Amino acid sequence: MVTHDVIVVGAGLAGMRASVEIAREGLSVGLVSKVHPVRSHSVAAQGGINAAMRPTDSWENHMFDTVKGSDYLGDQDAIETLCREAPEDIMELERMGAVFSRDAEGKIAQRPFGGQGYPRTCYLADRTGHGLVHLMYEQLMKHNVCLYEEWHVVKIVVEDGTVRGVVSLEFATGKLHRLHSRAVIVATGGYGRVFRSTTNALTSTGDGMALALRAGATLMDMEFVQFHPTTLKRTGILITEGARGEGGYLVNSEGERFMKRYAPQKLELASRDVVSRAEQQEVEEGRGVDGCVLLDLRHLGEDRINERLPQIRELAIAFAGVDPVREPIPIKPGVHYSMGGVMTDVWGRTPVEGLYACGEAACVSVHGANRLGGNSLLETIVFGRRTGRSAAEYVVSIPFRPFPDRALADAAREIATIMNRTEGELFTTIRDEAKATMEAHCGIFRDEQRLVRGLEKIREIRKRYENNVFLSSRQNSYNTELVNIIETANILELSEVILLSALDRKESRGAHYRRDYPERDDEGWLKHTLVAIEDGAYRIGYKPVVITRFKPTERRY
Ligand code: FUM
Repeated sequence: MVTHDVIVVGAGLAGMRASVEIAREGLSVGLVSKVHPVRSHSVAAQGGINAAMRPTDSWENHMFDTVKGSDYLGDQDAIETLCREAPEDIMELERMGAVFSRDAEGKIAQRPFGGQGYPRTCYLADRTGHGLVHLMYEQLMKHNVCLYEEWHVVKIVVEDGTVRGVVSLEFATGKLHRLHSRAVIVATGGYGRVFRSTTNALTSTGDGMALALRAGATLMDMEFVQFHPTTLKRTGILITEGARGEGGYLVNSEGERFMKRYAPQKLELASRDVVSRAEQQEVEEGRGVDGCVLLDLRHLGEDRINERLPQIRELAIAFAGVDPVREPIPIKPGVHYSMGGVMTDVWGRTPVEGLYACGEAACVSVHGANRLGGNSLLETIVFGRRTGRSAAEYVVSIPFRPFPDRALADAAREIATIMNRTEGELFTTIRDEAKATMEAHCGIFRDEQRLVRGLEKIREIRKRYENNVFLSSRQNSYNTELVNIIETANILELSEVILLSALDRKESRGAHYRRDYPERDDEGWLKHTLVAIEDGAYRIGYKPVVITRFKPTERRY
């Protein structure tokens, strides 16, 4: 029987940071991941991690920028925690051996990022996630965390209202395993792959959010889908906000720096929702260039581009055939981040006893309706640490109770139903239609008619999946088609939840823009949207926003 004090699902930065915190207490951690930890999506984070590190900055300023960025939907107690604890967490990363770019005095360098009144984004050129993921992987090794890599969790087991562990599929053998534990932490990242064009890795299919929802947790603020303003033409690969932080311009087909019409003060460094909407509007009004606008870095010069933005130069050359030293880069907004997720408190606790969540999979909520660039890596570290700590404190106080075979048998039966089908529809058509539907019906600009039609289509596609999805490969070892089919169920579940939430919220706030309700409505909608499953159906509820220091005012950049 495999047992651990805590099972952590997902080996990105949040999952690894939580695991290290638990292992430091001498407790046993099983870290389950679809991929080797250094291939987790955190590795793709480019631009940096925010913290008020200088005497001329303060955590209060960081907090204000984050609250404003969130369009006042972020919970201010959680945002205070994030910003107050950030500098010490950065120093701890440095003590662990993190590599950061340096300023002339040898201090950790910081660059401007969107929506912030101070250059407070610490960075490692444009490979910050890469540096931190490798650092945290070393810490996993140092603390003897037990890794289950290339394993996929298919069920979180809850018995008598308490988490007992997970059922997981081992890719190499095709076997299902019971992993028993006293607590489970969901740290599986976001769901970018619910949409067609995204910066997210192929693995970002929102598995943990879907698993937690089915285990009795609540999803919060799922209508808030972040579109990053600069993703590469065709592929949707991320071109870091650091490029604009270093001074890059956005121009339309007329060569105009159009952001001056949308955000006269902050221009290209307005918050992401504002910049993405502006780009989309330029394209829709005929001032785009083949469906894109242009990111011009030429004035920065080759030396600066090579020093600060080497990776995006490589990416632009390799995937768009454009060298930013000589030509502007064609870019467009693309799905980047999920502000919503598994509802937790500031210690990562969900309402289900023993179930925790952190990182992008969670909604604490520190990002509200729109996340600031550089606050996501920070969230993984601050709330990864806090969630690990609270799970560690919890497990020492409760008895170990293994879960029955039945849970594994149920999971096996669900897989066998698909395996035993002799004909049907391949997951690829189902998944691709779902993604196209989300792109067309739940994009940057939304309205009731489009959302309703999107919901109908997703429900039709879900029926086809449930009754008809067909597995063409019978192999046991590394049956990636089977894994994709399981992921597709998660994509479909979250698509429906996102559409329901977006339809429900009849206002525009942050990344959720309704053309039929173009104004923010604090009277009616200064509240979080909740979705839970009750008696087999989705139930929508609400939760008040926590407001402490900053009263909602009009947001301008
Ligand atoms: O643009 C970027 O480098 C992304 C950063 C972030 O999402 O925090």
